[in-house]
Amino acid sequence: MTRFPFSIDRRNLLAKGSAVVATAVLWGASAQAVDKSQELKVGVILPLTGQYATFGKESLNGLNLALEESAASGSKGIKLIVEDTRSTVTDSASAINKLIASDKVSVVIGEVASSNTIAATSAAQSNKVPLMTHASTNDSITKGKEYVSRICFIDSFQGQVMAKFAAEDLKAKTAAILVDSDSDYSRGLRDSFKKSFEATGGKITVDVSYSQKDTDFKAQLMKVRRKKPDVVFVPGYYTQVGAILRQSKELKIKSTYLGTDGWDSPAFFEIAGAAAEGHYLSNHFAPDDTDPTVQKFVKDYKEKYNVVPGAMAALAYDAGYFIRDAVKRAKSNSPEDIKNAINSTRGFKGLTGQITLDSNRNAVKSAVILKTTAKGNTFHKRVNP
Ligand code: PHE
Repeated sequence: MTRFPFSIDRRNLLAKGSAVVATAVLWGASAQAVDKSQELKVGVILPLTGQYATFGKESLNGLNLALEESAASGSKGIKLIVEDTRSTVTDSASAINKLIASDKVSVVIGEVASSNTIAATSAAQSNKVPLMTHASTNDSITKGKEYVSRICFIDSFQGQVMAKFAAEDLKAKTAAILVDSDSDYSRGLRDSFKKSFEATGGKITVDVSYSQKDTDFKAQLMKVRRKKPDVVFVPGYYTQVGAILRQSKELKIKSTYLGTDGWDSPAFFEIAGAAAEGHYLSNHFAPDDTDPTVQKFVKDYKEKYNVVPGAMAALAYDAGYFIRDAVKRAKSNSPEDIKNAINSTRGFKGLTGQITLDSNRNAVKSAVILKTTAKGNTFHKRVNP
């Protein structure tokens, strides 16, 4: 079992996150060695503060690790310009506009939360600057937008993985769904889970929503308690899900909870406490995966940041190398050439799996199911598309 040093998590991920607004670093060579006119500017939009702050901080850590490693071997100057979206839709849109209009970046990496990435896609598309998201899984993000791509799987797959797991592995016949009505991510996952679970013959007995502003979930949970479903699917983000699990335990609800990648944060365990234990979530990466490349990354990341990396760190690390690979193949700093190189990526080997972009510029990859313990997530199984 992997043990997570939580007190360190909190300092690293939360305290420092709020201080970072923008940083610029060189990727691939020392500043002096770079011919400024040749320098490639990569914009990064991340939720470094606000409700998804642990996601933003972990992404930045992963990118910086890739950057540092790559600087040891690289020859071409890449400048990373990081903007904080404050976890909001409006700041995500203004951040990408600023990166494109004033910084004249050639490509943008980010955001994390699907609703925020959706808000950034029109700027990418209308200015013809590629936006590659490492983590946003909502199906609609890349649809019809040739400048928008991603290296993670999509939610119609993720929802199906958890619905099949519920029906086949846990033998669940009934499920409750609690959906975050403020999030495109959560609503999309609700739909895909419902569709797949019903296709197995399962029944959705409770289907209720909550808001990201809510802190008391007892009204929704009382409905769950009355129906006693076999499983409760909560495709939400760690802040609300942590509180939901805690309150569910207080109400003595016995059902197994099922979640998705938005649960994956050290803050989840802080908020849920002992109630975090014994549930399952789908994810992109397991830190206790025995693959030697994964283990090397986990070791290096722990050495640098004193904490075990989650999926977000691994996806961002992959994003760094993925963009570097595309730029090398593009042999140009032009957004158009880089877009074409990104979109034609086949068989890129990442920590989170082999990345091949399909015709909708989505990565077709396997998912892992993790089991939660009171202290951290452990690998349970891998599911192929
Ligand atoms: N998939 C989530 C979204 O689209 C973001 C996320 C990815 C969160 C990976 C945690 C880990 O909003």
